[in-house]
Amino acid sequence: MSRLAYVTGRFLPLRQARVSVEDRGYQFADGVYEVIKAIDGEPLDLDRHLARLDRSLSELRIPKPLVGRALEQVAREALRRHPLRFAILYLQVTRGTAARAHAFPSGVRPNLVITVRRAQFPGEAERREGVAVRTLPDLRWGRPDIKSIALLPNVLAKQAATEAGCREAWLIGTEGEVREGSASNAWIVDGDGRLVTHPADRRILAGITRSVVLELARAHGIEVVERPFSLEEALVAREAFLTSTTSLVLPVTRIDGRAVANGRPGAITRELARLYAARCGLPAEFARM
Ligand code: PDD
Repeated sequence: MSRLAYVTGRFLPLRQARVSVEDRGYQFADGVYEVIKAIDGEPLDLDRHLARLDRSLSELRIPKPLVGRALEQVAREALRRHPLRFAILYLQVTRGTAARAHAFPSGVRPNLVITVRRAQFPGEAERREGVAVRTLPDLRWGRPDIKSIALLPNVLAKQAATEAGCREAWLIGTEGEVREGSASNAWIVDGDGRLVTHPADRRILAGITRSVVLELARAHGIEVVERPFSLEEALVAREAFLTSTTSLVLPVTRIDGRAVANGRPGAITRELARLYAARCGLPAEFARM
């Protein structure tokens, strides 16, 4: 499969696809994005992703690159041109191309870029053993609820985690609370057996996987509370896991080198992984732990 990129109006071979060096995404990280998974060409939760993209755009006062259902149509066309069993669709919208000046330029159109690649879901070892996370202070700006392409603190946190042999970084807020991962949401099962995750306020990104897992938990009688939880609480939690479009529901079995409970994926985590995989139409192996 030769990969293509959609760049403001047309599909080109990936290597020939270009935006200007004066694209404001390149110069100021003045843009937003979405990462969407697709199975056999069908994007999952596309409506939720496009709604979140609309919200990110409007918070930053970037006009929509396409009106009506045109964006959905181009996204589906991109998937059609990349016949893959499991794909990741990447959408990025920047404020546009203009001579470098901080304030919004007038009369520019947003730049839309779409790419598709093969999805890499967690492998068997990560699912069975769970993954390690390391914690770091949350150094991001005040609006991580906007899915902005300004990801430098996330990049640095993920790199620090990787160098420590960990899959993910958990970002700790000023009150000692676990906010979320560098590219995923964070969850625990607390001492009372309740599922806990940070509220979807301005401190975290409201993950689409998070919203689906919350619904699944509630529908299956698992008690859930959206409240901040501290690192201390996470260290003595019964279970921990993370969620994202590409990580699915992934057990966290070590935090800063300390085992979570008995160091094995917990029962509620396994149940939610199974429910999530089934809900997405993913093969059962993606929930085998
Ligand atoms: N990351 N929190 C952050 C900071 C994220 O970057 C992501 C997603 C999530 C989970 O959101 P969702 O369930 O909608 O994928 C939470 C994507 C996958 C990325 O940047 O690659």
